[in-house]
Amino acid sequence: MCGIVGYVGNKEAFPVLIKGLYRMEYRGYDSAGVAIVKENEINIHKCHGRVSDLEEFCKDKDVTGTCGIAHTRWATHGEPNDQNAHPHFSSDKKIALIHNGIIENHLTLKVALEKNGYIFNSETDTEVLIHLIEDVKKNENLPLAEAVRVALSQVVGTYGIIVVSSDEPDTLIVAKKGSPVIIGFGKNEYYVASDGAALIEYTNKVVYLNDEEIAVLTPGNDLQVKTIKNKKVSHYAEKLQLSLEELEKGGYPHFMLKEIYEQPRSIADSMRGRLNLKKDVVSLGGIVEYEDRLLNARRIVIVACGTSYHAGLVGEHLFEDLLRIPVEVEYASEFRYRNPVIYEDDVVIAISQSGETADTLAAIELSKKKGATVLGICNVVGSSIARATDAGSYTHAGPEIGVASTKAFTAQVTVLALMALCLADKKKKIPKKQYVRMVEALEKIPDQVKQILQSDEKVKEIASYIKDHTNALYLGRNYNYPVALEGALKLKEISYIHAEGYPAAEMKHGPIALIDENMPVIVIAVNSATYEKVVSNIQEVKARKGKIISIVTEGDKDVAALSDYVIEIPKTEELFTPILTSIPLQLLAYHAAVMCGRDVDRPRNLAKSVTVE
Ligand code: F6R
Repeated sequence: MCGIVGYVGNKEAFPVLIKGLYRMEYRGYDSAGVAIVKENEINIHKCHGRVSDLEEFCKDKDVTGTCGIAHTRWATHGEPNDQNAHPHFSSDKKIALIHNGIIENHLTLKVALEKNGYIFNSETDTEVLIHLIEDVKKNENLPLAEAVRVALSQVVGTYGIIVVSSDEPDTLIVAKKGSPVIIGFGKNEYYVASDGAALIEYTNKVVYLNDEEIAVLTPGNDLQVKTIKNKKVSHYAEKLQLSLEELEKGGYPHFMLKEIYEQPRSIADSMRGRLNLKKDVVSLGGIVEYEDRLLNARRIVIVACGTSYHAGLVGEHLFEDLLRIPVEVEYASEFRYRNPVIYEDDVVIAISQSGETADTLAAIELSKKKGATVLGICNVVGSSIARATDAGSYTHAGPEIGVASTKAFTAQVTVLALMALCLADKKKKIPKKQYVRMVEALEKIPDQVKQILQSDEKVKEIASYIKDHTNALYLGRNYNYPVALEGALKLKEISYIHAEGYPAAEMKHGPIALIDENMPVIVIAVNSATYEKVVSNIQEVKARKGKIISIVTEGDKDVAALSDYVIEIPKTEELFTPILTSIPLQLLAYHAAVMCGRDVDRPRNLAKSVTVE
């Protein structure tokens, strides 16, 4: 949430900063702004709206200079307007700052600063930082980096900040706690950003700043890093694992559609090197050392948010079915505050696409404190969650730019399936014949996804029916109940059509009251242990004139006969059906949103990478 970017070197900073903002716009798009240091003064330009609005706004402004910072905002404190846009200025106009995170004690700090005569021009929590730094600098007569360090020691909350000063026109000061900051090395130049997408065009040599560290970046000087407690730290550059091509739309109208269509490849990438069909072996290198802990775990606790939570719910079925180890799945945001019982022989698995979700990170810290082993399933290599966990497996889905998560979900479920299969085999929980059948079924999934994508035209037809409705109900059971939740989430977040996911049999305990001829009911009715039960649930909807859109296994006649619209998926093991059934629901949400005229990749009020709680 919120993207920060900085540049200092021998190039003009503005084009680098604007490009960086475009690449990080999915982190927030309420307002954007830039500050460029030029000849011992700072020019700030900022406005409400998108990065393109900022670019337009800057057309007749002076944006020259080789040192600058820029920000794209997802509003937390204060509505999205020009005043609340970053960067923020010190009262003497000599220091400017951008921030990603939340300053929790901003009200207390503000009262003290107002007493000292500082005037606040915005409603943001961030503005206290700039006045606090200015105050410390003046009162204690400190160089800027020291003033930033001392000021941050008074701050409660999370931050990724970049500070520039007209007194030190070739220096960026960067600090991090709880919000990601990556420093990139060029030739006599430094880049900084919230994520690698803004840097990869220029460099793949990076350092990930750790929490409570502050860095001073001056071209010609080595990187200097200290902790907030004033201890020197050494960092070694790492290779940024990202390619520019992955960050482009590649001819698709939206990143979301591109990412839906990438799934045959992204699922195959999640399996690559882990599924060896010839030897019928499943192995996950990242967790080998922790296999015994998993096999002997008293319990597996999965923590995640949003779509990743839904993948976790599928994981619960997979682990309990195949391993017979009890599993609990929790929203990370609830888990962290409810004083949960965590045993030392629990294994906690944190699932996150971005690897930066604040609540999931906090749940990890809590679990570690209580002595549990914590594993991660992350997409972004080198992300905070990947580094905070004891070990883990990357999903290898490639960058997900569309705000609505699609390929990350199917990759997460794939990795969970691999994990469950690998451990079940080691624990001798399933007969070899069944294991081999499952390995073979899993291997076919990428091609089956390709086949499902061919039903896109049919899904479009259903979307043109859905788009005129204000509500929709998604029903599923067992493995496909999480898919019903995920399908409903996709529809509501990008089309703004209200949708709810329900376990199909729960419908008669309340939601059935909603059903009439105006209620589209999307039912996942694929071959499964509960198929007959789902057919009965469909009859119940039908009897109340609800419109049935069903997802069935190819060749199904019974459900098809009861349905207004039908989408078929190829046959697979019940365990893996969520990977297939989620695909048409992603397409349905996508097309409905496009038909409703929504900004699919940047839905209102949302942002990717939720780094604030
Ligand atoms: C929904 C969506 C969100 C994320 C959630 C967790 O389409 O994208 O619900 O799934 O914010 O994000 P990660 O997986 O990055 O922790």
